[in-house]
Amino acid sequence: MSDNADPDFMPEDIDLDRPNAARVYDWLLGGEANWAVDRQFGEQVVQTNPNARTGAMVNREFLGRAVRYCVQQGVTQFLDIGSGVPTVGNVHEVADKVAPDSRCVYVDNEPVAVAHSKILLERHGDPDRHAVLRGDLRDVRGVWKQAMGTGVLDPDRPIALLMVAVLHFIEEGAHEAVAHYRELLPEGSYLVVSHGSYDGIPAEQLAQVERIIQQYQRSSTPVNVRGRDEFTTFFGDFDLVEPGVAWLPEWRPGEGESKATSQFLDNPAASCVLGGVARKA
Ligand SMILES: C[S@@+](CC[C@H](N)C(=O)[O-])C[C@H]1O[C@@H](n2cnc3c(N)ncnc32)[C@H](O)[C@@H]1O
Repeated sequence: MSDNADPDFMPEDIDLDRPNAARVYDWLLGGEANWAVDRQFGEQVVQTNPNARTGAMVNREFLGRAVRYCVQQGVTQFLDIGSGVPTVGNVHEVADKVAPDSRCVYVDNEPVAVAHSKILLERHGDPDRHAVLRGDLRDVRGVWKQAMGTGVLDPDRPIALLMVAVLHFIEEGAHEAVAHYRELLPEGSYLVVSHGSYDGIPAEQLAQVERIIQQYQRSSTPVNVRGRDEFTTFFGDFDLVEPGVAWLPEWRPGEGESKATSQFLDNPAASCVLGGVARKA
């Protein structure tokens, strides 16, 4: 969506006064669901960190590898919270390629992301197997009730819960919310998380990360990066699968198409994003 796109499409409560993470991320990935306020902001982020666009792709590639991993372990139901604007390699598409009967519910709190997901699923989805809803990650009961209410997911069978590149937009209540989701997930489920971090990143990049955090203070989605130890606690007592918590380029880079990831293999910490996948025993 660009500024001159069909006005009928415009969701009513979209905030165009400030840039928003969903739309800036869409711009970084080369999408069109963004407005001038998001693009100008994105340009500034890229000026601060010339790797920002590749970094967004690295995150997307991690998402794809993690989804394929879960399907290979026999888990074919996905709850993708903070799913974003649909783009290359959406969860249901990646999962369907490996398991054509896979199921996915998308959740986001940004109206443009939800509207675009609805259109995509109306055109290319299967209403029995795919759904999208608007919800705030912190409203655990509400999100869970709505997600299970779609009838797409069976709460008695393992579910892969994805919270990819979303928890760093939540300062207060993130740990409590994730702990509650961990409780709700049935045994055999997986938790997939990626998150901006600064521990051990090259010194010149630390300054960039700090500037980007400052820049995002102006957006409707301020960023709050976390260190490795704090990030690891999101997985609680779930069993982290190999290689454990890792910089995204280090998380099973050989599995799947990983063009952007390969650019970071010499210096994975430069991705500034940690990831992990863990199983509920
Ligand atoms: C950087 S995008 C990540 C999209 C996708 N998960 C990925 O990794 O490619 C972050 C998304 O999280 C969403 N988000 C931020 N805070 C949220 C919240 N409290 N509840 C639900 N979604 C949220 C944003 O609207 C945005 O779409």
